[in-house]
Amino acid sequence: MKVPSVILVLIVCLSAATPLLASSAAGDVVGKLTVGYQGWFAAKGDNSPRNSWIHWVDNSDHPYKDHQKFDVWPDTREYTHTYQTGYANLGNGQPAKLFSSWDKQTVDTHFKWMHEVNILVPIYPKMNNIDTAALQRFAGGVKSDPVYRKLLNGVADNVRAGAEAHGPKFYVMWDISGWNNFATEIIEDYDNNVKSLTTSKAYAHQNGKPVVCIWGFGFNDRPQNITGALALIEHLKQQGLYVVGGVQTQWRTDTTAWKDVYLKLDMLQPWAVGRFGGVKGAQDYKPTLEADHNTLKQHNIG
Ligand SMILES: *[C@@H]1O[C@H](CO)[C@@H](O)[C@H](O)[C@H]1NC(C)=O
Repeated sequence: MKVPSVILVLIVCLSAATPLLASSAAGDVVGKLTVGYQGWFAAKGDNSPRNSWIHWVDNSDHPYKDHQKFDVWPDTREYTHTYQTGYANLGNGQPAKLFSSWDKQTVDTHFKWMHEVNILVPIYPKMNNIDTAALQRFAGGVKSDPVYRKLLNGVADNVRAGAEAHGPKFYVMWDISGWNNFATEIIEDYDNNVKSLTTSKAYAHQNGKPVVCIWGFGFNDRPQNITGALALIEHLKQQGLYVVGGVQTQWRTDTTAWKDVYLKLDMLQPWAVGRFGGVKGAQDYKPTLEADHNTLKQHNIG
């Protein structure tokens, strides 16, 4: 998901949330509170395979002020390792350091926080901490670039260890942004790099199946291999997986060939970030969500 984020982006799984309304029994995603976990930060000096600033800046040489691309300075006090940036200090004398997702202790801390956090969702009183993290996998390049592959897999191992230690479950969410060969390469990536994660006791399951997600179906500015998407979903289902799709907001009224893709998924996650604002905007959006929910219920889709 190409959205500004520091650590966690709340992704909307609440639509399928209450066991009363959902089309399948509670598991690790239905009836649970899920967040997206990017895990895409790296720092110069972190001993990672790239050893450079990744995702903090536009220019990976050094995070000078003009190149910064994050909104809020993260609280780094609980991390054992942090890395000096180009800023002298935070303006209050504190060192201006950032973290790396390559550091196991940092990711472990994030999973500890997910377990401890107390989120008040009045209509879902049982959801006070985060149940599940969807590890984003921007894996275009995973095949051609062994250094990048090592980085991605190292962060995934950190996520696995953090989840096993603290309780939240995790699953892998591929993002097809800019990834023209996603249809064939996700299959290879699953076989070579992801399948082994599903044996973790912390790997999320739904309806008895390990959960995976592919994000980016139906967006104009994402790859348009629709036959490839259909074959991919079918293949992953045949592997015994529960397949979630991150889909565009107006999926239900889509008249393009993508319309045949949506209802092949086990669960849909329509993109909602930035689609409404304020209380009035949320109220206006409610009928859309209800209509989505009714359609999916008819098809027994989450
Ligand atoms: C679409 O995906 C299929 C695999 O399902 C692949 O064989 C085909 O080459 C892809 N098409 C394009 C245009 O990338």
